[in-house]
Amino acid sequence: MCGIIGFTGYTEAKKVLIDGLTALEYRGYDSAGIAFYEGGSINTIKTTGKVAALTDKIAALNTSAEDTGSTCGIGHTRWATHGGVTDTNAHPHTAGKVTLIHNGIIENYRELEIRLKEEGRIPISQTDTEIAALLLDSLYEGDALKAIKQAVELIEGAYAFCILFADQPEVIYSLRNSSPLVACHAKEGSIIASDMVALIDYSKDYFVVPEMHVVILKKDKIILTDLDGNLVCPRILHVNWDMTAAKKGGYPHFMLKEIHEQPDSLRNTILPRIQNKLPDFTADAIPDSLFDGITRIVITACGTAMHAGLIGRVMLEKLLRLPVTVEVASEFRYQDPIIDKNTLVITISQSGETADTLAALKLSRERGASTLSIVNVKGSSIARESDYVLYTHAGPEIAVASTKAYTAQLACLYLLAFRFAYATGKLEKEACMEEMQQLLNVIPALEETLSQDKIIEEISRQLKEKEDLFFIGRGLDYALSCEGSIKLKEISYIHSEAYAAGELKHGTLSLVTEGVPVVALATQQKVYAKMISNIREVKARDAFVILITISGQKAEPSIYDYHIVLPEIKDEYAPFLAAVILQLLAYYTSLHRGLNVDQPRNLAKSVTVE
Ligand code: G6P
Repeated sequence: MCGIIGFTGYTEAKKVLIDGLTALEYRGYDSAGIAFYEGGSINTIKTTGKVAALTDKIAALNTSAEDTGSTCGIGHTRWATHGGVTDTNAHPHTAGKVTLIHNGIIENYRELEIRLKEEGRIPISQTDTEIAALLLDSLYEGDALKAIKQAVELIEGAYAFCILFADQPEVIYSLRNSSPLVACHAKEGSIIASDMVALIDYSKDYFVVPEMHVVILKKDKIILTDLDGNLVCPRILHVNWDMTAAKKGGYPHFMLKEIHEQPDSLRNTILPRIQNKLPDFTADAIPDSLFDGITRIVITACGTAMHAGLIGRVMLEKLLRLPVTVEVASEFRYQDPIIDKNTLVITISQSGETADTLAALKLSRERGASTLSIVNVKGSSIARESDYVLYTHAGPEIAVASTKAYTAQLACLYLLAFRFAYATGKLEKEACMEEMQQLLNVIPALEETLSQDKIIEEISRQLKEKEDLFFIGRGLDYALSCEGSIKLKEISYIHSEAYAAGELKHGTLSLVTEGVPVVALATQQKVYAKMISNIREVKARDAFVILITISGQKAEPSIYDYHIVLPEIKDEYAPFLAAVILQLLAYYTSLHRGLNVDQPRNLAKSVTVE
């Protein structure tokens, strides 16, 4: 959470910072601020609200975001953790010669605060970040590296900092522990940020800042050192998307654009991994030997990525006949998980930076498990910590509500399940080839599904005044219901729950009364008749039923109010199509309620705190 950016170079800094913060705003949008060298000193402008509010404040102060006064500065967009949403708590924070911005949480800030107060250093905000500024200032005697090293020895927690020292104009110091930072040098100067989306306007070549290393940004170069000041050569990576991928491209919202990008993101994720009609991970450097001796699979992730894991579990268990469990990453570490060298731990993460998922991965490695991650962001922490990585090629996902990353994660899980089954002799070659064809068939079917936009919009109008909603399904449909429910509630603020359809009558049915919407997923042939009985149960209580089936499945009009029919596809692949319907349903419901679809309240896209 929180987006940070630093720039020093040959062009005016405020514009670079504001553009960067606008691109990073999905990471947090409670308040925003910048600090920049100008006229021999550091000026800070910060405010509650979004980056647009900051731009207004800059304009009101007669400091044009386009003036040429400053060529070095830092900027921050906040997702509040410690201290409320106030101007004072907004970053940057200044203490003496130090002005800094921070993404992360300083866990021992109370302890540090007591010590600093004893020295007469009194914070004016309620943030953990200001404590870091006070601490650093107390240690700084003109040698930035020395002060940073001493501070790091005292600070516990996750952090990415960009620091200005008042007596070192035009230079930015940066370092990180867990929280993400990427940097690049371009003709405009040196730039560092939480995410590549803030850098891509300047360069496609960048490096991920190694943890516990110091980056010194100067106009003409970037210096990377370890904490002892030894020079380190950065490992340059290249992104294969450009700025158009991180812009709305004519769509009113990123979410809608990203929903419509799913055929492409699936193509990019699946096609390179099918060789000679079989799933193939040669280019990903994932050998079949990874599957040798595996007796158990644990999938761990957060939010939508965890829901992708629920679908993956069904596929993996079905094909491999091995026990597969899905663990919420924030709980995983505290359950003393039973994992050993015969366990394959699969972590799933769009950002590759989710703190809980990263911690679960680290624990799994410590306990000797083989680890594989399914990640969207190249070079991210989770990718680097895993033994093997399967990248989803979804391109940048900006809307807080995850859509295209989810279906790309499903595609990776399906490819993995089929390769694993084929490599261990549990699936014949011909059958595996047939399944790959089915997986490819998903892409045109998904394109067709997207054309149901209008009917979904109409249904959403009926939902906009509702207060509670239920998603029900069985098997894969239940796993998908969990995702449908979180999608709806996170952006429409309507309370919703996902229920295994057969379980509803064991308590929750008491909440289903006249007009309560129930989205009933009935795409699975094997349990279709049972599912229809469950739908009758809610219809008998006068629920407002939105039924989703696959073409060819018969349904009496008396059991539904709306019926959405998906293109014909094998049961196993229905989640890809139904997911799109549920995404659109959430999107239009949020839109009709007049809410901020891309930036729902209280949330942030990349959750780098535990
Ligand atoms: C946040 C986002 C979700 C996402 C989850 C996990 O809560 O709002 O959309 O599913 O984090 O993020 P990850 O980057 O690990 O997939």
